[in-house]
Amino acid sequence: MEDRFGHRISYLRVSITDRCNERCSYCMPRELQEWLPREDILSYEEMLRLIRIAAGLGVTKVRVTGGEPLTRRDVVSFVREIPRISGITSLGISTNGTLLTHEIAGETMASALRAAGVHSINISLDTLDRDFYAQITGRDFHSQVLAGIDAAIAARFDQIKLNAVLMRGRNEDQLIPLIEFAGARNLMLRFIELMPVSTTEVLTEENFLPMAEAKRMIESRYGALIPEQSFRTNGPATYYQISGRSQRIGFIGAMTNLHFCENCNKLRLTCDGKLRPCLGSFLEFDILKPLRAGASDDELRQFFIDVVDRKPEQHDFRNNYQPDRKMVAIGG
Ligand code: 5AD
Ligand code: SF4
Repeated sequence: MEDRFGHRISYLRVSITDRCNERCSYCMPRELQEWLPREDILSYEEMLRLIRIAAGLGVTKVRVTGGEPLTRRDVVSFVREIPRISGITSLGISTNGTLLTHEIAGETMASALRAAGVHSINISLDTLDRDFYAQITGRDFHSQVLAGIDAAIAARFDQIKLNAVLMRGRNEDQLIPLIEFAGARNLMLRFIELMPVSTTEVLTEENFLPMAEAKRMIESRYGALIPEQSFRTNGPATYYQISGRSQRIGFIGAMTNLHFCENCNKLRLTCDGKLRPCLGSFLEFDILKPLRAGASDDELRQFFIDVVDRKPEQHDFRNNYQPDRKMVAIGG
């Protein structure tokens, strides 16, 4: 699948639930805290059918997201089926980390996911300060997340990434502690610019911390960061090496990096069955309806192709984007 701008679509992000056990202000605005009714949510069988179709069209990488994906029942049995799909060579999951130590069938959730074939895990960690963590997420789960990170390390994923959303006045004093924390554990740390994905007031002039400024703050401690041209994951992050260390950090500059969308290879499937060609665009297309109306594989294949054909050249976040859906329903 290739769009009008030459983006080859090889990466499908699948949100399996809009539910979450946390309440991050940048993701879930207070006024939008109702869950979707269960019948509006794709079943695992429906999701697997759509992933199979996407794989037939060139998708090789799947990332399971939410909401918090680990809150959905039988998530391990679901993810186990994904690497069995012909063409899928990489499987990741993004989680808030709070449930990774949960025991299922005598092992941790983290180990169970690894055994089910998850290669890469992204864990959100905005701060090492427990009180701030509770302020940001609305929940006092900081110690569970730290234990969850240990469980992920013990489970030996191919890759563990920590994601921190940059917020002025909230966590700029945490950049160095987070780097030290990640470095001591040999984990990849990425700083994400705040995006107006849930409501516009989430992102204000006061709380937006651009990646260039974060980079300057980091460089005043560690010296010039060394850009890594060659190192690319499938995502839009730019990576740097810290001088004199074997540690690399990434920046996801969705707002200030004007080249952000150039290598986009992504398509999103929301938990309520919408194909969304871009996180930062209103465009989404309801594939649940044809799916449940008995569409054939060929018809669904064409649906994917038509959606990709409408993929915008770049996101709309810089153009007074007015979000109409909470991030938690779209999938981060
Ligand atoms: N801006 C930037 N990142 C966000 N995330 C959630 N909401 C936002 C936002 N408004 C991030 C989370 C998590 C990932 C799933 O998405 O921190 O790391
Ligand atoms: Fe939940 Fe993640 Fe959204 Fe926070 S950012 S409310 S942990 S889905």
